[in-house]
Amino acid sequence: MSGAHESAAGGEFTEIDHVAIAVQDLDAAIVWYEETFGARVVHRETVEHDGVEEALLAVSDSYIQLLTPTSDDSTVARFLATRGEGLHHVGFRVEDCAKTLQAAQDAGVRTIDQVPRPGSRGTTVAFIHPKSAFGTLIELVEE
Ligand code: CO
Repeated sequence: MSGAHESAAGGEFTEIDHVAIAVQDLDAAIVWYEETFGARVVHRETVEHDGVEEALLAVSDSYIQLLTPTSDDSTVARFLATRGEGLHHVGFRVEDCAKTLQAAQDAGVRTIDQVPRPGSRGTTVAFIHPKSAFGTLIELVEE
């Protein structure tokens, strides 16, 4: 993006991509969102290297991302064991994941991923550590 407003960090968020919620029973959570709010599933995927199965429900141009673990040692399994069900992370869209990640690292922000990696549905993603982000796990999402 170019224009009059160019932030010093050089990698601002463009939109909220998804709000990720960890659940024990993916199908039960899907049915609840469908029946209570008329949400609809637009994508479902198992991301093996993260040990999660996810369902994306559309909310305008953004998504609710319901997450459930596929193995006991996945990070989502550990999250559920220690924190219980609930808000897991927020995904923000960026134009250039590598550039935004680098800008954050240059600013001293602790990141979980040192370089961008493949996310679900063909995206490129990187996570910012919650300890550097006022307690919220942040995912940078480049479509
Ligand atoms: Co996510």
